[in-house]
Order: sequence, then C-alpha cells, then structure tokens
Amino acid sequence: MELERALGLIAEVPDFPEPGVLFRDLSPLFADADGFRAVVDALAATVDPAVDLLAAVEARGFLLAAAVGYARGLGVVLVRKPGKLPSVAGRVDYALEYGTATLELPAGVVEPGRRAVVIDDVLATGGTVAAACELLEKAGAEVAGVSVVLELAALAGRSVLSGRTVRSLLAV
Ligand code: PRP
Ligand code: HPA
Repeated sequence: MELERALGLIAEVPDFPEPGVLFRDLSPLFADADGFRAVVDALAATVDPAVDLLAAVEARGFLLAAAVGYARGLGVVLVRKPGKLPSVAGRVDYALEYGTATLELPAGVVEPGRRAVVIDDVLATGGTVAAACELLEKAGAEVAGVSVVLELAALAGRSVLSGRTVRSLLAV
C-alpha cells in the first residue's frame, strides 16, 4: 500500500523538456520520506542475492543506487556523463528520447566476473540503460538485471534490452 501511494507521487508534466513530451517527475516521490523508503525497499527486493555490485546511472540513478546499496550491503559503480571521470574504462554514445548522450565507466573499478544490477529511476527508450549494460559487459562484468522505478512502456525500452531481466516497480 505504501509503495502504491509512493508511486502515486510521481507527477506528470506536459511539454517538458520539449513540446509533445509528457515528463514524469519523480521529485515529489524522492522528497517524501515514507515514499522514498518504500521505493528503495522495493528496488532492494529486486536485487538477486548473487549480485555483488550495483551500477548507478547519473544522476537520479545515483540517489536510488546509493540507498539500495546501503540497504543490501553492496557497493556502487557510478556510470557517469562525460568529462567527470579522470580515467575511463569505456565510453558509449547513445540516442535519448530527446537528444543524444554519452556515458562513461570509471577505470579500475569493475573487475571481470562481477555480477552487477543496473539501477536507474526511469526506463524510457532504453538507450541509457543499454549503454550502461554495454559498458559493464565491455569491462568483463555480467549484467544480472536492470531495476528501475518507472517504465514508460510506450517508448519500448524493454525491446532494446531484450534478453535482459528488467524489473520496474511501475509501468505506465
Ligand atoms: C533520464 C533518466 C534515465 C534516462 C531514461 O536521465 O534518469 O537515466 O533519462 O531515458 P532512456 O531510457 O530514453 O535512455 P537524464 O539524463 O535525462 O536525467 P538525470 O541526469 O536527471 O538523471
Ligand atoms: N521522466 C524522467 N526521466 C525521463 C523521462 C521522464 O518522463 N523520459 C526520459 N527520461
């Protein structure tokens, strides 16, 4: 019930960041103490016990993965936007719902054989999470799954991630 209430705090903002885009704003959910705890607990429950690392996508994925990592006793690798890391293991360019983007993985953090779950807030076209998975796999890690709060089903992110275990707390 608390999870349902929490997910109900996600706001719909028309025409952001561009005309025609219905933006789902998780800010009210993140700012609600019980709501935040409910989504963190629910995300933490999606992480298989065999997983030994979380991968967080900048920026909102950091917030969630930090809390899930603390709850589950797991470390977090920060998958970052370009120009933030002094040394990178890999870089992937990809398309977004609105525009293009690049993600980078820090060097020397992900050893081959690690079993990682990718954490983010929203799965839209899937490009972001697919790029994070690609970076992890190029570093020799196994992607055990992808866990997000909200999946925008109309944007078909799951199809970009076919063959992967994708868990969302809510699909709209
Ligand atoms: C948002 C969101 C996901 C991504 C989803 O990040 O947090 O990471 O877009 O889109 P996709 O599935 O179409 O790739 P964004 O970089 O816009 O914002 P943030 O830096 O606030 O997390
Ligand atoms: N909300 C938050 N992040 C997003 C969205 C959205 O609607 N679409 C793509 N990334």
